[in-house]
Amino acid sequence: MRKPILAGNWKMFKTVSQALSYVEHLEGLLAEIQGVEAADVVICAPATSLYPLHNQLEGSRIKLGAQNVHQAEEGAYTGESSAIMLKDAGANYVIIGHSERRQYFGETDESVNAKTQQALKHGLLPIVCVGEDLDQRNQGVTNTLVESQVRAAFSAVSVEDVTRCVVAYEPIWAIGTGMTATAQDANAVCAHIRTVLSDLYGKAAADQIRIQYGGSVKPDNIAELMSQSDIDGALVGGASLDPGSFSKLVKEAL
Ligand code: G3H
Repeated sequence: MRKPILAGNWKMFKTVSQALSYVEHLEGLLAEIQGVEAADVVICAPATSLYPLHNQLEGSRIKLGAQNVHQAEEGAYTGESSAIMLKDAGANYVIIGHSERRQYFGETDESVNAKTQQALKHGLLPIVCVGEDLDQRNQGVTNTLVESQVRAAFSAVSVEDVTRCVVAYEPIWAIGTGMTATAQDANAVCAHIRTVLSDLYGKAAADQIRIQYGGSVKPDNIAELMSQSDIDGALVGGASLDPGSFSKLVKEAL
């Protein structure tokens, strides 16, 4: 009953011309996949490519996402993009609190919450990232940590708004490393996230919220991940950079 969502996160890759030729290729490949309309396919592109992609993708099944948003309406924040700007440039979704943003740009649970509220206010659908590092996993605190990240991210977010959000569970040790959590382990954490959401918002709302897994997702491991009860999609880095590989991943996910 939850529509699968496959999102490619290009991170800091691709010029405008590379982005445009990629989506032209991807569109053609997706058109050949039977039943592709059963899933949401999202490309989270660098801010420089959003508007050109938006123009090229008019009427397309491919949705656009940004990779970050600032929490203020506007102001003297050199180098940042507001929710209004991203929406205007054509983004439907925005990734918030990716572990790379938390690690390299000082994002905290508090800023993730402020960004989530700001995105929702302006009609952007947040993809809120949570996940533990290897030490935390080895210490056995994964569920506790992820629970506190989820509770903080959605603090003061209404039940109507939370059902528009996507949660991406990304164990940091699995990002770009080729080490994937087993489908069962990934599902156990996603199920815990849903229990936390149910505690906060009730079961009916929690059952509507889509939870993605991210971390070395590839065409050959997506099917097993998607067969799990609480995994509704994937946030894909490396394997989304090539349209052939990403379209194969979408096909295998259905
Ligand atoms: O946002 C995507 C994640 O960081 C996963 O990246 O698929 O290259 O491991 P990856």
